[in-house]
Amino acid sequence: MSAEKMETTGSLLNGAGAVHEEKEDILRPDDLSEMLAAGTKVVHEKAENTQFVKDFLKGRIRKELFKLGHVALYYTYTAMEEEIERNKDHPYFAPLYFPAELHRHEALALDLEYFYGPDWQSQVSCSQATQRYVDRIHQVGQEDPVLLVAHAYTRYMGDLSGGQVLKKVAQRAMKLPPTGEGLEFYQFNAIHSAKAFKQLYRSRMNELELDMETKQKLVDEAVMAFQFNMEVFDELEEISKTIQEDVLDAGLPVHGAMGGDIS
Ligand code: HEM
Repeated sequence: MSAEKMETTGSLLNGAGAVHEEKEDILRPDDLSEMLAAGTKVVHEKAENTQFVKDFLKGRIRKELFKLGHVALYYTYTAMEEEIERNKDHPYFAPLYFPAELHRHEALALDLEYFYGPDWQSQVSCSQATQRYVDRIHQVGQEDPVLLVAHAYTRYMGDLSGGQVLKKVAQRAMKLPPTGEGLEFYQFNAIHSAKAFKQLYRSRMNELELDMETKQKLVDEAVMAFQFNMEVFDELEEISKTIQEDVLDAGLPVHGAMGGDIS
């Protein structure tokens, strides 16, 4: 998004009560929200163009791969939300602490239970690329908590931006129930307007008292967060080839019950 003039009027309810903010913000290029949007523009386009993401958007998702994607998300959000909890009172993170609205750990656990059954925890493990992402999140949370803002921004703002589209694609491609089982991750029940919430989140980021050097460090960290995500996508893409071979080896049709192409 550009540094256009924007009015921010957010009025949101969360589980604990009303979060009400009314203000008029004129965004400036040195506002953190604008620096993050501008500084991640190129890497965002790169992420959109990874094979995994392109296939996903076309509805070319095999269920086994989607499940592994969810496993990666589970470990990522578990680490991120663990570090967010640790730093929830830190002045650099407290204004961005929205557990009821944003946190995805529980939703992902429900989805994994749906896909893998009650003993899902014994069936999943953290992949190498995911582990590198997780390690960085823990390092940041423990050594330089202000940088957590970049990780929260990269994931939550992204989820709020594309979640509903991805949910519909996944639901149709894998013929998941319309009642939403397996897709809790995409469902932000405590957020009534993603647009309004994103505006609130941006204004909260802009109110953090950060000097220019720290804001720049946050942009660099957000670029890094995008890169970690792309490494996970690339790893999934590699795994996808072996799944395909397994399916072929087993003599099953490639476009069988595992997925489908809605395009
Ligand atoms: C914002 C599309 C992948 C992170 C957006 C917006 C769109 C979009 C249209 C703007 C929403 C708005 O201004 O309200 C897409 C598409 C993707 C994709 C089509 C894949 C094909 C990703 C990925 C990530 C990501 C993989 C990170 C893991 C973000 C973030 C924002 C965003 C952080 C907020 C930008 C800001 O306003 O500061 N995306 N996205 N996106 N997306 Fe994506």
